[in-house]
Amino acid sequence: MNSAPLAFMDSGVGGLTILKPAMARLPSESTLFFGDEAHLPYGEKQPQQVIDYSLAIGRFFAARHAKMMIIACNTASALALPTLQTQLPFPVLGVVEPGSQTAVQASSNHKIGVIATRATVTSHAYRDAINQLDPVAEVVEVACPTFIPLVEKGQYSGQAVRDLIAAGLQPLQGSGIDTLVLGCTHFPIIQDLIQAELGPKVTLVDPGAATIEQATQWLTEHEQLAGNQTPYHDYYTSSDPAHFQRVGSEWLKRKVEAQLVTPNQLTQDDQ
Ligand code: DGL
Repeated sequence: MNSAPLAFMDSGVGGLTILKPAMARLPSESTLFFGDEAHLPYGEKQPQQVIDYSLAIGRFFAARHAKMMIIACNTASALALPTLQTQLPFPVLGVVEPGSQTAVQASSNHKIGVIATRATVTSHAYRDAINQLDPVAEVVEVACPTFIPLVEKGQYSGQAVRDLIAAGLQPLQGSGIDTLVLGCTHFPIIQDLIQAELGPKVTLVDPGAATIEQATQWLTEHEQLAGNQTPYHDYYTSSDPAHFQRVGSEWLKRKVEAQLVTPNQLTQDDQ
């Protein structure tokens, strides 16, 4: 038994789409969540920058005695996972491998699409992880950076939004994929619009859900679950607590109070 918190990081509020199912699946676990809004979007940054930001957040969690870190960000998972796994004192899980596993299981025709940020697509982390599991799978990776501001601004409906989504998904039309990985934390929020555009025959995969299952399995096998306790949930943002609290309360359907930790404080805080 271990009552220490589970720690989640994202480049912004999008990772709350992973925290929410984690809270439902593991209701006794305390959690820490860091949204690095000062550095959003990670998807437009250089790989070393994403590694540095993610490592600073991991050290922040280590100073708060987290028992596990979940990188609730596809871009950071794609670029920083191996570094974090070697540099931090707790197990670190990313979303790419669990998402790829689910996609390979879901696909019948071995044609899998991935939509993600530019940085995730350029890294080919999903293609490589899928091909490790299924060497004959054809993986079509498409960067959809224009979808992220829609979600940040809460624009989930209307013809202009549908047109933008149709344009972003255009490279997938005619590709023959039967499965699509939502390889960005923001995309599960607009999955109905994505599904409507691609039609019911394409199975959408949310890597976050699969990652929570993997975390649950590890905690169970290693007897690290929290047991009966009243958990606490702490939220940190590097930029804008008011924005974080507004979006966080809406998505999580609970009161969210975020503390500001500036990038300077983050690097000085715990070393
Ligand atoms: N959280 C990022 C991801 O899942 C999307 C937003 C960003 O570019 O930082 O890839």
